[in-house]
Amino acid sequence: MTVTRSVVLGCGSYLPKQILTNAELATRIDTSDEWIVQRTGIRQRHIAAPGEYTSDLGTKAAIAALDDAGIDPQSIDLIVLGTSTPDNTFPATSVAIQNALGIHHGAAFDLQAVCSGFIFALATADNFLRSGAFKRALVIGAETFSRILDWNDRTTCVLFGDGAGAIVLEAQEQAGTNADSGVLTTHLRSDGRHKSKLYVDGGPSTTQTVGHVHMEGREVFKHAVGMITDVITDAFEATGTSAADIDWFVPHQANKRIIDASANKLHIPSEKVVLTVDRHGNTSAASIPLALAVARSEGKIKKGDLVLLEAMGGGFTWASALIRW
Ligand code: UT7
Repeated sequence: MTVTRSVVLGCGSYLPKQILTNAELATRIDTSDEWIVQRTGIRQRHIAAPGEYTSDLGTKAAIAALDDAGIDPQSIDLIVLGTSTPDNTFPATSVAIQNALGIHHGAAFDLQAVCSGFIFALATADNFLRSGAFKRALVIGAETFSRILDWNDRTTCVLFGDGAGAIVLEAQEQAGTNADSGVLTTHLRSDGRHKSKLYVDGGPSTTQTVGHVHMEGREVFKHAVGMITDVITDAFEATGTSAADIDWFVPHQANKRIIDASANKLHIPSEKVVLTVDRHGNTSAASIPLALAVARSEGKIKKGDLVLLEAMGGGFTWASALIRW
């Protein structure tokens, strides 16, 4: 008996032109390239230009993904955007992207799970495709975190950057084994007891302002590795796979030390880990599709490869996905 799977047809990304290096940050606040590299692995981040919005970044990433897939945008009937930095409180930024792509049918909506947003969006699109409700989906992660940073707070402003990435998924009939192409499993978790450890101090219902990012970095760090490895173990158990089966590990890019510790705990060798945090910083929901696009452009991820995704962020939210490319 066949099953419906969400198969990846293509991926793409977009980074704003302006690069902000650690050295430049060190001229503005009390920090150093050495501290940032040693504690996080970050060397630079991209910053959106004035007047360049999350929807602009997301649209460019979507166009790159559609080009990579070689398909007509009109064949897309679902757009799910993971973002915590929408253009406006409403309408959804995905609707602006849909309109910019000239698509006026199907559905488009935003999804907010902070740094786990891309995997939450992927799981949502996957469920809609497998149910038969839609046929082809764009799953996008796009962020302009530079707009919600307090640029005088050295504990947060050195960590984040702007960018966008996207993948195109298509519902296809597959054999129903681990050798299938497409999304094999997704696992989503949340625990609101941690909501004040990483948050933005504003919003429409509370302050009627946008607010700035605040983080108890050490607390987030303390929970990250355990949560990440737990939800990856869920993915292995659901599919009967193990770390030895993984071709590429594409983690959320928040901190190289968290990525290294998670890979070590899971016995995933460093050659299989896709690392972009050095170039992009933490781009929240955009970090995984950005890393996927970089890995593809570097000739790493190939058709048939088993790709493991994970993310952890504000909420806390955390998630994993296994995809056969
Ligand atoms: O994507 C969502 C998930 N987010 C994360 O995964 C982030 C998780 N947390 C982290 O990545 C790390 O906790 C940080 C990179 C944010 C911080 O690294 P840390 O090793 O946990 O440092 P810390 O917060 O314990 O701070 C150590 C010291 C402090 O000084 P004292 O109190 O020891 O005198 C800080 O004030 O480093 C100081 N510090 C800085 N120094 C130079 C904090 N930020 C900076 C800075 N430059 N930018």
